[in-house]
Amino acid sequence: MSKAQFDTSRLAAEYDSRQPPEVLKLALDSFDNIAISFSGAEDVVLIDMATKIRPDIRVFSLDTGRLHAQTYQFIDKVRTHYQISIDVLFPESEAVQKLVNNKGLFSFYQDGHKECCGIRKVIPLRRKLATLDAWVTGQRKDQSPATRAGVPVVETDGAFSSTDHELIKFNPLSNWSSTQVWDYIRTHNVPFNELHNSGFISIGCEPCTRPVLPNQHEREGRWWWEDETIKECGLHSASRPVTTGR
Ligand code: ADX
Ligand code: SF4
Repeated sequence: MSKAQFDTSRLAAEYDSRQPPEVLKLALDSFDNIAISFSGAEDVVLIDMATKIRPDIRVFSLDTGRLHAQTYQFIDKVRTHYQISIDVLFPESEAVQKLVNNKGLFSFYQDGHKECCGIRKVIPLRRKLATLDAWVTGQRKDQSPATRAGVPVVETDGAFSSTDHELIKFNPLSNWSSTQVWDYIRTHNVPFNELHNSGFISIGCEPCTRPVLPNQHEREGRWWWEDETIKECGLHSASRPVTTGR
């Protein structure tokens, strides 16, 4: 299917009730120039599902320089387990150096996370997405009632498309709950990040992620010093309006 024939709104409605592997099949049948954005957390299920459709699926990870050691180990484990190459993307060294030399290594606790996430995640992602026609993310509605309740299974990427480059974004897990993801991991013997054994649910950078207590929402372990409605690092937030409250 060419991009011109890809009717995003119609397919978003049609595939909303479909299971993630079907959404992935649509994605991979429709686009050759597509890649999975892998954070090193439970979004590994996308790689498990996708390699069953296309064994040489392209995968990339944003190495912010601040991930947990366990996440680096896990990314490499996934690479060997599925025999895929993972494109590890680095931030621009000059920008990181300038930020750290001016403001120190933990400026996000005072200034908020946007500046650091912009340099370490968003700019490298923008560079990567400019080379793709479509990308696949592990976003789910239940990850953040405040910011992700409206995530469709497929959309035009409002943040990273430009006038001469329409980028399609697939979120195959959008309607799955955390329980469904973890049932899949156990049923299919999918490898997972060791941090999940220590109370971590949502996993991002080490200084900005902490385990949660029983009955705490997973998002409370991310950027816990900030308001929940701004707990997006820019990879996804500009795609649709952010709602307030739960
Ligand atoms: S974040 O925006 O708050 O950091 P989150 O951790 O919930 O995102 O992950 C949602 C999805 O965003 C992941 O499934 C993945 O597709 C993408 N993502 C998040 N962090 C990364 C990363 N470091 N590298 C690649 N993709 C990522
Ligand atoms: Fe920087 Fe924290 Fe954002 Fe990682 S999550 S890029 S350390 S502000």
